[in-house]
Amino acid sequence: MNLKDLYIDFFVSKGHKQIPSAPVVPENDNTVLFNTAGMQPITPYLKGKPHPYGKRLCDYQKCIRTNDLDSIGDSYHHTFFEMLGNWSLGDYFKKEAITWSFEFLTKVLNIPVNRLAVTIFAGNEIAPKDIEAKEIWMSLGIPENRIAETKEDNWWPNLELPGLCGPDSEMFYFRSSDEIPEKFDPEDERWVEIWNDVFMQYNHNEDGSMQLLQNKNVDTGMGVERVTAILEGVNDNYLSSIWKDIIDLICKISNLPYEGNEKSMRIIADHIRTSVFISADYSSIKPSNVGQGYILRRLIRRAIRHAKSLNIDISSDWDSKIACAIMDKYENYYSEIKENRNVVLEVLKNEKEKFNRTLEKGLREFEKITRDNSDIDAQNAFKLYDTYGFPIELTIELASERNLKVDEEGFKEKFKKHQELSRTASAGQFKGGLGGNGEIEIKYHTATHLLNAALKQVVGSDVHQKGSNITTERLRFDFSCDHKLSEEEKLKTEELVNKWINEKLDVTVKEMNKEDAIKSGAECMFIEKYPDVVTVYSIGNISHELCGGPHVKNTSELGKFKIKKEEASSAGVRRIKAVLE
Ligand code: SER
Repeated sequence: MNLKDLYIDFFVSKGHKQIPSAPVVPENDNTVLFNTAGMQPITPYLKGKPHPYGKRLCDYQKCIRTNDLDSIGDSYHHTFFEMLGNWSLGDYFKKEAITWSFEFLTKVLNIPVNRLAVTIFAGNEIAPKDIEAKEIWMSLGIPENRIAETKEDNWWPNLELPGLCGPDSEMFYFRSSDEIPEKFDPEDERWVEIWNDVFMQYNHNEDGSMQLLQNKNVDTGMGVERVTAILEGVNDNYLSSIWKDIIDLICKISNLPYEGNEKSMRIIADHIRTSVFISADYSSIKPSNVGQGYILRRLIRRAIRHAKSLNIDISSDWDSKIACAIMDKYENYYSEIKENRNVVLEVLKNEKEKFNRTLEKGLREFEKITRDNSDIDAQNAFKLYDTYGFPIELTIELASERNLKVDEEGFKEKFKKHQELSRTASAGQFKGGLGGNGEIEIKYHTATHLLNAALKQVVGSDVHQKGSNITTERLRFDFSCDHKLSEEEKLKTEELVNKWINEKLDVTVKEMNKEDAIKSGAECMFIEKYPDVVTVYSIGNISHELCGGPHVKNTSELGKFKIKKEEASSAGVRRIKAVLE
């Protein structure tokens, strides 16, 4: 049995209910992109809200930490990991928590007591030294010289951050084959932390004061990857049973040994696994240039770049083979992986196709830029991003492999300027509907403007855009309208769009002051969210819209426009799906 099963079985036997992992994207918290710890989704319940499953919970939670993204490639960092946890919501406290931790480590995982050591909170002005925890550990058989005390390291998350917190007791395992020192020193790297019992009793208010919570809670956390590697006696996490077969598969695909290629192979394994979990998640993230979608894009593109560096044929199905092997491992634990296998493969395939189109050229451009061993200025960094789809972090990585620098600040400036312009098309949730910036999407984008203008003429001037979404297959357009379109209205709309396409109208763009743009009657949404200077795209004389682009140069590029479906979207809003043939 593996660690996850052993853990859950053990805590269920102690009266806990297993709860499912929350999605990787926090549900009611937009301050972070992803869940980074097992307790994060439990926060409201630790604060006192009754949990539908009761007061004793346990789970394995999907966690993603992207601040470690650039460290991936070493032997122990992962962007995705699973965290085991058990919680008491105002039910049991220190005695049970510590006793069960000890029992699980020594009786279920069979770790000899001699290899264990613990830390406890040393005390400060907020809370006294945790003598109680110390006494419990000693009563279980941990000798006093294997118990160390700290102030800063035994307060979770730390003494500065506002929010839920409390003193904790951390458990350590002696990982080395050296003789085990009598006295435990938490600074000695041969002792590695394996588990953390937090006695969560406080809320750290914004003003710095500490407030006792309604309940005395227990929050524990154990990282599956790390502890599995430790128990299996490997010093490289990627050689543990969690990763070994994935690494073997990458060796097979690349026809190269792991030794000497560790960094790229670990990056590929890690990034594809995280991409699988992000794209299978019920939060439906797709690669994009913002938020979680941008992280997904970076992960996939970096994996592709490293696959290329191993001479893997990146247009082959190498990525789906790896993703499938990963999904086979996890699908019995996560229903979303089972249900969304095809979604994951589709996301990988689309993003790969998009990036593969420009990667080769982009790498050549990179060679050209750095030919004289010169650093990369903002202009070139932005070009690599904008034209060749190189996330800035990828450019930085490529540059650092040659000891070159990238003008990141300058890039950020340019990027910001670019975003301001795009924001004209993306007020709030409305992203101009432009998923990617591929040739096909750009055509659909222009077709969307034509459709908007045609509907105004055919259905009525009170038609306004309510939403838009574009893929390489179709456009989807939501608009205000109080009735189902008649066959005649649909036909007329279609004819009008095709007429404008045949008229070969030029698409032009100009920057305007926001007020002037509105006065001139340009179509827009959520006006208050636009910047002061906006771009207005005009198609001949028939359409003027505030928009960040991009668009085709002339409507003749579009092909034939066809409405595929017209349906209700929500009250007073209709939806059209249309294609260009
Ligand atoms: N919240 C603590 C941690 O993340 C214990 O779960 O380490």
